[in-house]
Amino acid sequence: MKRVLSGMRPTGKLHLGHWVGALENWLKLQEKYECFYAIVDWHALTTDYDRTEKIRENIIEIASDWLAAGLDPNRSTILLQSQVKQHAELHLLLSMITPLGWLLRVPTYKEQMRQLSDRDLHTYGFLGYPVLQTADIIVYKAELVPVGEDQKFHIELAREIVRRFNHFYGKVFPEPKEILTPVPKILGIDGRKMSKSYGNAIFMDDSPEELKKKIFPMVTDTRRKRRTDPGQPEDCPVWTLHKAFTPEEKRRELYEGCTKAKIGCLDCKKVLIQRLTEKFQDFREKKEYYKSKKGDVIDIIIEGSKKATEEAEKTLEEVREVMGVGISPGRI
Ligand code: TRP
Ligand code: SF4
Repeated sequence: MKRVLSGMRPTGKLHLGHWVGALENWLKLQEKYECFYAIVDWHALTTDYDRTEKIRENIIEIASDWLAAGLDPNRSTILLQSQVKQHAELHLLLSMITPLGWLLRVPTYKEQMRQLSDRDLHTYGFLGYPVLQTADIIVYKAELVPVGEDQKFHIELAREIVRRFNHFYGKVFPEPKEILTPVPKILGIDGRKMSKSYGNAIFMDDSPEELKKKIFPMVTDTRRKRRTDPGQPEDCPVWTLHKAFTPEEKRRELYEGCTKAKIGCLDCKKVLIQRLTEKFQDFREKKEYYKSKKGDVIDIIIEGSKKATEEAEKTLEEVREVMGVGISPGRI
């Protein structure tokens, strides 16, 4: 059975963008493949090394979100990156063979530096981040990596590092391939891309009251100044959510209602609120449950990381051998 690996940074609780862009797909993959899902806390340090106070609580939060959404620790391995030291060892070994030029050419490198201009990202760790990501993947010899479009280049680089490794030391690693999740673009309540850092996100665990509070005042197509003005759903942030969450048939009805001014935006928003309330009802209950069982969540992370460590260590034994480093008792 092919292996899948993906990861998320522990930056806080998950919003609807994470659900449609990743988690929903992860759940499907666990039916078909042997999956490893990593909470990548070292990755969080690559950009946020000077504000680490929330990382630990965020690890529990994200694990609770995953579990509540239905990631099954009996099927998938849920692991914490920093708990599996082999990720770091492999990162170091790969760093020896990764040309600097490859890293300097990663498009997200310069782009993120520009975007996060309030932070000093001229660090060794930040430049090496794609090497760490490569280690995350190949330490389990994973062949499939579900990621968003923005991560495509990183997987490409992982393949190049694998080729270089296999060329020097023999064929140890399979070349990983991305599974690009077709992401319906979801906008936040202010009409910008949904993101926690913009403060415009609708969270998976938002209560029906919170949903109302966020969705009712949402900006819509500006053409609809009055109820009698027809609108264009394609220019409306609310519609991006309908596209992701409202079944086709109902959506057609709303589309017509909007473009022919048969319904008001409030009606349209009510349908969305109702839909999200139902869709995440079960999730909210399970999230409540896990919030009251932090000890269990921690145990699940530790157990998963142990299982992951066993698999990762098998790979590292092979890697040390072919690279000619390390020593083991009784062997020359
Ligand atoms: N770099 C990814 C992100 O920022 C997270 C990540 C770390 C990852 N390691 C990974 C994703 C390995 C896929 C595979 O979103
Ligand atoms: Fe947006 Fe719905 Fe209003 Fe049309 S009716 S502008 S899709 S909120």
